[in-house]
Amino acid sequence: MNRSPALFALALLLAEPAAADAGSAPGGRQVFMTYCRLCHGDAGEGDGPAAKLLADHVRPANLRRSVLIRTEKERIIRAGGAAVGRSGSMPPWGEQLSDAEIGDLLAYLSVLAQPTTTP
Ligand code: HEC
Repeated sequence: MNRSPALFALALLLAEPAAADAGSAPGGRQVFMTYCRLCHGDAGEGDGPAAKLLADHVRPANLRRSVLIRTEKERIIRAGGAAVGRSGSMPPWGEQLSDAEIGDLLAYLSVLAQPTTTP
């Protein structure tokens, strides 16, 4: 982890929602820290404290390096890994999280995956 926290905070601030339903990246960060960090890690790099405990030993994705487009991310987040032919260790969140929370998460994930925050 050699990224500048200031640069990252700036990227969060600059992540203006493009539309009303685009979600809030700072809000998404809070949802992420509550539900996702255990596997994906504080910085989303797939190295959370529970990452090594997954029964099938599939590594949680490095969300900073994700190449999935927004709709693909939304699908795996809502339906879980198994529903898209990937590891069932990625749980389905569609019942647990509200549409607003998922929108916020997607806004946050797009900031995380920005090249400016991944030197
Ligand atoms: C119990 C561990 C666990 C938790 C908690 C978890 N994930 Fe995952 N996630 C995984 C694993 C494992 C994969 C990789 C699945 C695969 O590649 O087969 C994954 C993959 C993903 C991917 C696909 C990214 C890519 O580029 O391949 C996204 C997006 C994602 N997770 C988002 C989330 C979000 C958002 C949350 C919180 C709401 C979350 N995950 C919580 C384990 C977890």
